[in-house]
Amino acid sequence: MRRPMVAGNWKMHGSRASVGQLLDELLRSATPPEVDVAVCPVFVHLSQAISTCQGSALSVGAQDCSTHESGAYTGDVAARMLADLGCEWVILGHSERRAGHTESDGLIAQKLQAAAAAGLKPILCVGETQAEREAGRAGAVVAGQLRGALEGRDKPVGLVVAYEPVWAIGTGLTATPEQAQEMHRFIRDELAALDGLDAAATRILYGGSVKPGNAGELFGQPDIDGGLIGGASLVAADFLDIVAAAA
Ligand code: PGA
Repeated sequence: MRRPMVAGNWKMHGSRASVGQLLDELLRSATPPEVDVAVCPVFVHLSQAISTCQGSALSVGAQDCSTHESGAYTGDVAARMLADLGCEWVILGHSERRAGHTESDGLIAQKLQAAAAAGLKPILCVGETQAEREAGRAGAVVAGQLRGALEGRDKPVGLVVAYEPVWAIGTGLTATPEQAQEMHRFIRDELAALDGLDAAATRILYGGSVKPGNAGELFGQPDIDGGLIGGASLVAADFLDIVAAAA
């Protein structure tokens, strides 16, 4: 049985004050014990989030990590540093990094290995653009991203995959539960074809304009194990409603 999971991708939002307030609001309510709940603030707010969440049901993740262990890499942050700080998770291959920082599948594969070596559990994001879907290439694109990141390499312990159709991120458009389920089933089959991965035990989250109003129907699909939440994760009441929908 896969434990449901809901992770908040806070992207580049917040200040020390707003992060403190959001965490206070989240920690005031007990989240369902059967759901893993994580928040992923920017690097500079990780330390604050980790100390505030200590001893609570909330775990903390980063939004990226370096491929390198240490060295002359100005501006980068090593996976080991994140683990040492107390991070449990790291989001890798988000479409905003693939597009905005030209991250390739090969680079993402190296980051996955670095994260796993440091003991971080990666949340690997995959998803097609609108044009790719309209061209009938959604499956091929997602399969290529999965293989590019995972094939022929050690499989990270605790790997989570997030299917995030690019056309649904921050747009208010959501994949229908049927569209999402179809792709999640496809992703699970692709994972099963890779050596060394227990596809039936791997959690696959849906991301892209998940809101309290659509979370229940999405999470009710057999291969959707929770969500990676952007905009709605910045509003405590909405995020808590989405977490409740995963229970
Ligand atoms: P969104 O973002 O929920 O704001 O669409 C999801 C994500 O990018 O992870």
